[in-house]
Amino acid sequence: MRLKEKIAVITGGNSGIGFGIAQEFKNEGARGAIFGRTQKTLDESAEELGSDFIAVRGDVTKMDDLERLYKRTAERFGKIDILVVNAGGGVGQGTLGLVAEVSEASYDRMTDLNLKSVFFTVQKALPHLNDGASIILVASIAVHKGFTGMSVYSASKAGVRSFARTFSAELLDRKIRVNVLSPGTIDTPVFGKMGIPVDEAAGAKEQFKNLIPLQRVGTAKEMGKVAVFLASSDSSFVVGEEIIADGGVVNL
Ligand SMILES: NC(=O)c1ccc[n+]([C@@H]2O[C@H](COP(=O)([O-])OP(=O)(O)OC[C@H]3O[C@@H](n4cnc5c(N)ncnc54)[C@H](OP(=O)(O)O)[C@@H]3O)[C@@H](O)[C@H]2O)c1
Repeated sequence: MRLKEKIAVITGGNSGIGFGIAQEFKNEGARGAIFGRTQKTLDESAEELGSDFIAVRGDVTKMDDLERLYKRTAERFGKIDILVVNAGGGVGQGTLGLVAEVSEASYDRMTDLNLKSVFFTVQKALPHLNDGASIILVASIAVHKGFTGMSVYSASKAGVRSFARTFSAELLDRKIRVNVLSPGTIDTPVFGKMGIPVDEAAGAKEQFKNLIPLQRVGTAKEMGKVAVFLASSDSSFVVGEEIIADGGVVNL
């Protein structure tokens, strides 16, 4: 029970990696809120997590929605000990594209979701965080490798990696640690949202799998285990750092 009495907020906690993190947090004794736009998956996830979790519906790219998330969390639980800034990924059509092809509108949607929203999810949380809180930003191995067609996503995630350093420096006086979890290929619904046609998504996943030294994709549960480490006092001397959990893609 490494997170007993801890209050956590997990954006995108209604699917994939975020839900895996919420489940592991629950197993370690945490309570808190999940946040996303889809009522159906919010309801299903909240039901599985049980009465120690609330689901708040909203969009991380909308300032009013972020403020409502923190207001609802404060009303129910008080101050926050762990913030997981995980919502992100594809923006549907236009998610992937060569530098020669990406439209300005796609560029803006991609950076709004994967970079700007991260900044403001943290900014709006600051008055609601306990001193000594742990913030976990979910980036990607795309920070470290050049995958064709993923320039805007990758640059957004590289910006997220950078935020962890500057935010940590700025929040030292409050002993708030900001770290990054960078997943490799993880089996989640994200593939269907990357603008890859459904009949090609399985092939894309297989292609990624072949690039992984451990010869398998990762699981949301495995990401949850890493997040528990970063959220708990087990990582008390880890600050501004990144954990790459990718089956060896970046380093082997
Ligand atoms: N799966 C991978 O292989 C992989 C690899 C590297 C990094 N990542 C990163 O891991 C994170 C989670 O991805 P995932 O694979 O778990 O994908 P996922 O299953 O599609 O989950 C994405 C989550 O983000 C939420 N979300 C998306 N846009 C949002 C918005 N505008 N406002 C609020 N919530 C929003 C979604 O909920 P709603 O749709 O209901 O809003 C969903 O809960 C992302 O940041 C992604 O870039 C994933």
